[in-house]
This record gives sequence, C-alpha cells and structure tokens, in this order.
Amino acid sequence: MCKAQNTGVCLNVNPARPGGAYGYVDMGGWIGGQAEFVMIPYADFNLLKIPDRDRGMAKIRDLKCLSDILPTGYHGAVTAGVCPGSTVYVAGAGPVGLAAGASARLLGAAVVIVGDVNKARLDHARRVGFETVDLSEDATLSDQIAAILGEPEVDCAIDCVGFEARGHGHSGSQTEYPSA
Ligand SMILES: NC(=O)c1ccc[n+]([C@@H]2O[C@H](COP(=O)([O-])OP(=O)(O)OC[C@H]3O[C@@H](n4cnc5c(N)ncnc54)[C@H](O)[C@@H]3O)[C@@H](O)[C@H]2O)c1
Repeated sequence: MCKAQNTGVCLNVNPARPGGAYGYVDMGGWIGGQAEFVMIPYADFNLLKIPDRDRGMAKIRDLKCLSDILPTGYHGAVTAGVCPGSTVYVAGAGPVGLAAGASARLLGAAVVIVGDVNKARLDHARRVGFETVDLSEDATLSDQIAAILGEPEVDCAIDCVGFEARGHGHSGSQTEYPSA
C-alpha cells in the first residue's frame, strides 16, 4: 500500500502498530498532527503542496481545519444522511461536533442541535447559531429535544464524542465516569 502511495491504509507506515492514521497521540508513533510541526512519513508524495506560500500562511488555520477536523465532521453529517430540511442532533460540542454541525447546515439541515455537558462549549455553540442541549441538566435528552422541535426525535444523529464518551443522564451516571 505504501508503494502504491496509499499510506492511509498501509499496515507498515506506523512504527508502533499497524494502521494508516498518523500524526496523533497514541496512534502509532508519528505525533504532532495538530502541533506547530509534524513529521510526515513519505513526505515526497504525502504532502499537499500549497502553491503560494504567503497566501497559504494567511489562511493556515482554515487549511488546517480542511486537513482533518472539518472533513471528519462533514463525513459524519453525510453518513448520517443529512439533507435539506433534516433535523439533526450532534453529540459533542468539541471541534469535530461544531464541524459536523456546520456541515449539516451546508447540507441544508433545518435545525442543528448540539449536546454536551460542557457549559463553555455549549455557550460557544449557541453563539455560532446552533440550538443546544445541556446533558448535565436533569431533563432527558429526548425531553430537551422535544422542547426545541416539538417532538422527542430527530431525523439524523452524529456521534462526535468518540471513545472518550462519558455516561450521563437517566440511563447513565453523571458522576461515575469510566476511569480510562
Ligand atoms: N479533532 C480532530 O481533528 C479529530 C479528527 C478525527 C477524529 N477525531 C475524533 O473525534 C472525536 C471528537 O473529537 P473532538 O476533538 O471534537 O473531541 P473533544 O474531546 O474536544 O470533544 C468531545 C466533546 O464531547 C463531550 N461529551 C462527552 N461525553 C458526551 C456525551 N455522552 N454526549 C455528548 N457530549 C459528550 C465532551 O464534553 C467534549 O466537549 C474524538 O474521538 C476524536 O478522537 C477528532
């Protein structure tokens, strides 16, 4: 796969374990994907060259979003089947959750609701125009969704929490989080 320039699915590109993802903490040995500098394996073909350095540096934050966070959120929105008029629930108000919410808007969603337990993140999500639900509140998720939509369900849901998910609410626990 590496010889075919498909390092994203190569079993050998990572020094520490099989798998093609690199640049992340504990994902194989190539760290720094969102740091100031990163080591790029097979950089001779594995880099997208920005033709104009000055214009590239002027938009470097946007370009960085395009390299990882936004496509992740966009993929979630597409996979969830978001289309014009959809009502959407996004679990997690982190970078990926907000990118998924923005992508859902691009795909024509009628309403995007973002849920989290982190009040500062929910405040930010509201500031940028999303509806929010606070999962640390007593009301259940479906009750909070019903308060916004008039019914306790959405057309599409996107998990933007990942393996760091924490239990909460009536079917979980707000205090007994997994120790990992
Ligand atoms: N940031 C990236 O570029 C990127 C890219 C690809 C994949 N990922 C993966 O996507 C996932 C999310 O990434 P992130 O950077 O937004 O993570 P993050 O940790 O910054 O945000 C996750 C949010 O989910 C909230 N949360 C925890 N449990 C919840 C629950 N049960 N319901 C709703 N919200 C809950 C947390 O409070 C937190 O604000 C992770 O698994 C990450 O590894 C991230």
